[in-house]
Amino acid sequence: MRKNIVLTGFMASGKSTVAKVLSKKLKIRYIDIDRYIERKENMSIKTIFNKFGEKHFRELESKAVNKISKQRNVIISTGGGVILNNKNIKSLKKRGKIFLLDASPKTVIKNLKNSRRKRPLLSTRNWEGRVYDLMNNRKNLYKKSCDYVISVDGKSINEICNEILEINNISL
Ligand code: S3P
Repeated sequence: MRKNIVLTGFMASGKSTVAKVLSKKLKIRYIDIDRYIERKENMSIKTIFNKFGEKHFRELESKAVNKISKQRNVIISTGGGVILNNKNIKSLKKRGKIFLLDASPKTVIKNLKNSRRKRPLLSTRNWEGRVYDLMNNRKNLYKKSCDYVISVDGKSINEICNEILEINNISL
């Protein structure tokens, strides 16, 4: 049986879009962990952070990861901070292969121009500086926790999907 395809990477590296497109191409389901949490809590990620703090969000995230990791034959798109807890990675790896969508700060900053406001960790004045800092702090964790690194700078969503399919030995 094929393993789940798990996408990790920094905010706005393209995880959700790649998951959607891969799901269409492969005709299998995709689950976006942040959207799952929002539906379950009936609140946006931003509201969860603002009302209850990051620690509470991380607990909800781990619960969601633990549950979703048990599914089979799905594509899982994770939140950028999922790698902060090694338990999350262990669960995701049991039935999945982890693909890191590796984007440079410049690419992320460009992608975030329209969607930054939904990201509670970047609701600061010097948000671009925060992107560099967060990325720097997390860089090793992203690399250490994945099975494959996909560089996404300058690539189209289609190109990124095709690379993932090639690694999985899937020709459509
Ligand atoms: C976070 C990334 C977000 C979301 C939350 C925290 C992070 O998901 O889970 O705002 O710590 O990097 P995206 O990577 O989909 O933006």
